[in-house]
Amino acid sequence: MTTNNAIELVALTKSYGDQSVLKGVDLTVPRGTVQALLGSNGAGKTTAVRILSTLLKADGGTALVGGHDVATEPAQVRASISLTGQFAAVDEVLTGRENLVMVAELRRVERPGRVADDLLARFDLTDAGGRRAGTYSGGMRRRLDIAMSLVGDPPVLFLDEPTTGLDPQSRNEVWKTVRQLAGQGTTVLLTTQYLEEAEQLADRIAILHEGRIIADGTLAELKQLFPPTTVEYVEKQPTLEEVFLAIVGDGIPRRGGGGDATSAATPAATPAATPTSDTTAREGAPR
Ligand SMILES: Nc1ncnc2c1ncn2[C@@H]1O[C@H](COP(=O)(O)OP(=O)(O)O)[C@@H](O)[C@H]1O
Ligand SMILES: [Mg+2]
Repeated sequence: MTTNNAIELVALTKSYGDQSVLKGVDLTVPRGTVQALLGSNGAGKTTAVRILSTLLKADGGTALVGGHDVATEPAQVRASISLTGQFAAVDEVLTGRENLVMVAELRRVERPGRVADDLLARFDLTDAGGRRAGTYSGGMRRRLDIAMSLVGDPPVLFLDEPTTGLDPQSRNEVWKTVRQLAGQGTTVLLTTQYLEEAEQLADRIAILHEGRIIADGTLAELKQLFPPTTVEYVEKQPTLEEVFLAIVGDGIPRRGGGGDATSAATPAATPAATPTSDTTAREGAPR
């Protein structure tokens, strides 16, 4: 594969029993980009992420991360990724700093204390670093969780629904974090059910629906898939202004008014009907 792609999925399939969840998923994520995988609940987003992070085996197709095949080179894949799931892996009894030091020691990173302090600073958690994580807000906890997943600087980060269950303020904190990561060159595959989240964070958005990627592109490209304007003909109630103008007379041509002196002489006779048909005519109803 070309080394410019951090993630490449080709014809990926996965079933649970007789339920076919992924029916041939194709997706390419260039290095250093944020890719959103958008899909409703149960679409198969977590399944795809679990296959990419070697936690689950695919039935068919190919999945490459950093050029390594998840099926045949799982160790190399694991060395280049980090996964933050929907449910935080934070130990609530430990302080924020202790959580980070623990992960750094597990990953055999040099100078764990310094790595922890750097990450606390990067995620605006320096002041809270000495407090038990159990006292953190939802947003702080999720930020700590993402910070923990970045110990050792993995080039590819999977964020599986990072803001599901968070309040709007916490969600904004996480968004800020993801933007910072993107600015530093980390490749991020972000799953979400929220259109706005994809819109806010992603360079490219892929929509997973009924087992396949049904759309993939930048936001601008996706918007072009839809006709920009649709003309709809709607039975419209007259506004007060239109009623007013119909009663006082403003020169707007009225139904049957073409040279009909009688109706023109009695504009107040049918005030409600007149502006409705006028409005339709002005909005370009087909004749
Ligand atoms: N381990 C499993 N065993 C059986 N069915 C599963 C398992 N994991 C997920 N599923 C089913 O597969 C479908 C996709 O699930 P999932 O990948 O978690 O979707 P998403 O993350 O998009 O919500 C769902 O219908 C779910 O119930
Ligand atoms: Mg999921």
